[in-house]
Amino acid sequence: MRNERWSSRFSEGLNPLALRFTASIDFDRKLYLYDIIGSIAHCQMLAKCGLLKSSESHKITKGLKEVAREIEGNRFSYSLEKEDIHTNIEAALIRKIGPVGGKLHTARSRNDQVTLDLRLYCRDQLQYLILSLMELEKAALGLAEKNIDVIIPGYTHLQRAQPVLFSHHLLAYVAMWERDRERLVDALTRVNVLPLGSGALAGTTFPIDREYVAKKLGFARVSHNSLDAVSDRDYAIEIAAATSIIMMHLSRLCEELILWSSEEFGFIGLPQSFCTGSSMMPQKINPDVAELVRGKTGRVYGHLISLLTLMKSLPLAYNKDMQEDKEPLFDTFDTVSLCLEVMAQMLPKITVNKKKIEASLPGGYLLATDLADWLVTQGLPFKQAHGLTGSVVQYCAKNNKEIYELTQKEWKTLLPKIKSVPTGELTFKKAIQKRSAIGGTSLKNVKKEIKACLKKLETFP
Ligand code: ARG
Repeated sequence: MRNERWSSRFSEGLNPLALRFTASIDFDRKLYLYDIIGSIAHCQMLAKCGLLKSSESHKITKGLKEVAREIEGNRFSYSLEKEDIHTNIEAALIRKIGPVGGKLHTARSRNDQVTLDLRLYCRDQLQYLILSLMELEKAALGLAEKNIDVIIPGYTHLQRAQPVLFSHHLLAYVAMWERDRERLVDALTRVNVLPLGSGALAGTTFPIDREYVAKKLGFARVSHNSLDAVSDRDYAIEIAAATSIIMMHLSRLCEELILWSSEEFGFIGLPQSFCTGSSMMPQKINPDVAELVRGKTGRVYGHLISLLTLMKSLPLAYNKDMQEDKEPLFDTFDTVSLCLEVMAQMLPKITVNKKKIEASLPGGYLLATDLADWLVTQGLPFKQAHGLTGSVVQYCAKNNKEIYELTQKEWKTLLPKIKSVPTGELTFKKAIQKRSAIGGTSLKNVKKEIKACLKKLETFP
């Protein structure tokens, strides 16, 4: 038996195991609609350029639409022998309308077809991710607004550092997601380039109109090097990198939610509808959703490394290795959009235990920097103020006192050269209020930032 798929060049059929091994239909069938949309645009261009009669182009377009309906209605039978979605659709078309269907492949190759389909898919998915990010931002801004004036201990090295507003803390994530969105929009500009018309690697001998196809399919540009166009997967890698950063951000938030909801912190309550129990310990309510988002981060990083490794050292132009680009990319989009969605639904349901948080503010000398800053206002160079505050903290630690609990007498002994005392200055509220330069945690700033963030979301893109 000849190898039917190709040509009389083969005198032997494909080994059944090799057939299974080389086929991609099990996963690239996901691209069927993009393949058909791309084929219709290609077909219309062929007719416009006189490479197909208009009756032929109508027949092909009609046939392709029927194939689409069959696939949508689960009436299509995929064949492993036809290797991938591109050949499956072409074979179905020829079965339906006869040999004229074979004219569709004039001036194209599967190599430019596969990357066309993938670009169309990525374009849709990126837009979806951008919208999902915006939903998550809105959810975080809502939670921030609802708890606008709650003061929490801020940490560095996971050691108590300075007080910050809970809303300010949430807005830090909004800032990350804004950058994430910018990265996706930026990736989109390089995704939105038409590769079709590059042929297998060298271009085509036919007088085609690539700009026409680009316009039909909504591409902003056409590619300008056929070799690069068929072998470029930078866009897939960029997407994997940008989404890895999104997952890294989500994992940081999830880690904090898990910590904050622990008995030890008790800052927040996670909605029970986003938690699960234990099969053995009846008392348990576990933050599984947050943990799983944190866990899935590793999986998305893995896809980035897979794609980078896949493309490393590949000679130009297309190589079959590149068929391996799809599964990591598909799973990246599926995973990241699911994580964004679940987070956007969970965040608004989080409860903030204001009382417990406020009770936790003493301890750890959160106002030490404020004392040092106050000493600067009394004329001390910051370095000296820092040193002097260190000894005040040491005194407090020894005497089991908070800085703001020191008496007039104690201040006089501790700061003999300073005329006034800082007593009234050292409150958590004032510490927040004073940090009013752009980007600081003051209530006024945070309110302004929430407004600005909401406005940016409204006017995006
Ligand atoms: N199934 C292939 C892929 O996904 C299509 C391109 C095949 N081109 C080729 N010359 N084998 O990459």
